[in-house]
Amino acid sequence: ADMSRQIIVGNWKMNGITRDSRELVQALLDKVDANGPEVVVCPPFTQLALLNQALAPSPIGLGAQDCHKNVSGAHTGDIAPPMLTELGVSHVILGHSERRQEHGELDETVREKAVAASKAGLTPIVCIGETEDQRESGDHFDTLGWQIKGSLPDGFNGIVAYEPIWAIGTGRAATTDEIAETMTFLRQELVRQFGEAGKNIKILYGGSVNDKNAASILSLADVAGALVGGASLKADAFLSIIAAAS
Ligand code: G3P
Repeated sequence: ADMSRQIIVGNWKMNGITRDSRELVQALLDKVDANGPEVVVCPPFTQLALLNQALAPSPIGLGAQDCHKNVSGAHTGDIAPPMLTELGVSHVILGHSERRQEHGELDETVREKAVAASKAGLTPIVCIGETEDQRESGDHFDTLGWQIKGSLPDGFNGIVAYEPIWAIGTGRAATTDEIAETMTFLRQELVRQFGEAGKNIKILYGGSVNDKNAASILSLADVAGALVGGASLKADAFLSIIAAAS
């Protein structure tokens, strides 16, 4: 992986009907160029085909927010990895805490999805993160260690996103000290699990990243980029975050 180029990923979550997503993407297309950090937007499934057309001739990449572990079959309501690659999707967010909470996804589920995504040629962005209780009781490193072990398959060739659950959508990002300390821990665990290859796995921070805190977070050693929720829905804020990355 090119460790020097940061990656800014916008997770739109369950937001974006056609009118809104067209407008948002147009504003990004006007300003994002190939010389900056890598930029990926992850709209809902229903916008992928449209955005593929809009983004194909641009440096902005397209991501999805989940995929199934199988390539086809009797799985009502699910989306298989090859269905995503067919739409020009290059990245897929997996194991987001909202999916772990609302859809009962376990580490094992996430790991199987990551295998399937990679097989289809997608780059998995696997999310991990502790709850507020876990951080307060000092169990956060244990939790994160188990999540890394459980959620990342052998030969993992994707990206890890550290999203403390208490920082998601709360306007209360982790402090730079907390992020720096956690990055050091995560890197150590990745190297323990994957050896040399663990040094090259990019780790993103996510959780209330905005135009004001982006620069200080993105300048931390070992932060390879950001996974942005709310602020990725506002063109100005998202562009400021992109401008703060290298
Ligand atoms: O995946 C990104 C997300 O969970 C962070 O959301 O709104 O706190 O930036 P937000």
